[in-house]
Amino acid sequence: MRIAVFSAKPYDETFLKRANATRHHELSFFDARLNVDTAALAQGFDGVCAFVNDHLDADVLTLLHEGGTRLVALRSAGFNHVDLAAAERLGITVARVPAYSPHAVAEHAVALILSLNRMTFRAHSRVRDGNFSLDGLLGFDLYGKTVGVVGTGQIGLIFADIMHGFGCRILASDPFINPDAKTFVEYVPLETLYAEADIISLHCPLTPETDHLIDSEAITRMKPGVMLINTGRGRVVDTQAVMHGLKSGHIGYLGLDVYEEEDQLFFEDLSYKVIDDDQFMRLTTFHNVLITGHQAFFTNEALTNIAQTTLNNIDAFENGSGELHRVVMDQS
Ligand code: NAI
Repeated sequence: MRIAVFSAKPYDETFLKRANATRHHELSFFDARLNVDTAALAQGFDGVCAFVNDHLDADVLTLLHEGGTRLVALRSAGFNHVDLAAAERLGITVARVPAYSPHAVAEHAVALILSLNRMTFRAHSRVRDGNFSLDGLLGFDLYGKTVGVVGTGQIGLIFADIMHGFGCRILASDPFINPDAKTFVEYVPLETLYAEADIISLHCPLTPETDHLIDSEAITRMKPGVMLINTGRGRVVDTQAVMHGLKSGHIGYLGLDVYEEEDQLFFEDLSYKVIDDDQFMRLTTFHNVLITGHQAFFTNEALTNIAQTTLNNIDAFENGSGELHRVVMDQS
């Protein structure tokens, strides 16, 4: 099949070409994000391959459909950026990579926790500067602390396992109890999780129910000094509310790998440009905030799996056989 790959970075090209080596698909790589202005690039292609910050709303899907697109192969697990109703109406199949390395994301969430707790990013700068003072670097033992896991799917359960290994008590909130959850995972109402957790980590998808789940009301119900970690999706957290929480000291630490306005920023080198997102720039000024640019998934294993599953989806769509990880409406 002829596939237009959008938001293609050099690493995407490397891994997708490697996975395609034994197949026959014609892959064309476009650095551009997919949106109404760039959808014409896909003219004449059978499918598009898209990532998390590509826009697949009804207008874009209509343009793609007019250009001959029949398949949207997502290189992500999340699909909140696709208008599934429009895709269904237009007869466009949407496929995703349901799991590529839940370990990568869970481990990154833990990396944020460890870095924030012991301020290793600040310590590194200090030591390079010949400043060996420990003031401001005081951490706490993870052992014995309570960790709240919001969303106990594949990533949330692995995260819970790792934190349990540190000797933490694990509370969880999820509309569905995962039968794979170990006995140490205590499912509790969200209220209880907010009230008792020293660290809260978000591993739920972005849905209408989780949109701004962490708002000012939720924050006031959390323990003063709580550490909040978001590697899920940016809009699960109301950034304004979190900024107020940081200013008042109610939130003691914030670790973000995702941000609600990230599509204007992440995955690009903007170091030579003026960033006009004042909210984001304010966030970066807090000493107790650590932000990474949606890199939790970014491991060798994950990129290998993403490329292979994406091409398997394309094979399965083309041949009408094999496993096609199709996204259907009301899936969450
Ligand atoms: P999953 O589908 O295995 O698990 C999601 C869990 O969230 C499910 O158990 C579901 O019942 C639960 N959930 C749904 N609504 C909820 C709510 N209102 N409150 C609490 N829990 C709720 O998904 P997986 O693979 O564990 O991924 C979780 C999320 O992580 C993805 O949806 C995606 O947004 C994000 N992600 C982030 C990456 C990154 O690089 N930062 C990479 C991959 C995924």
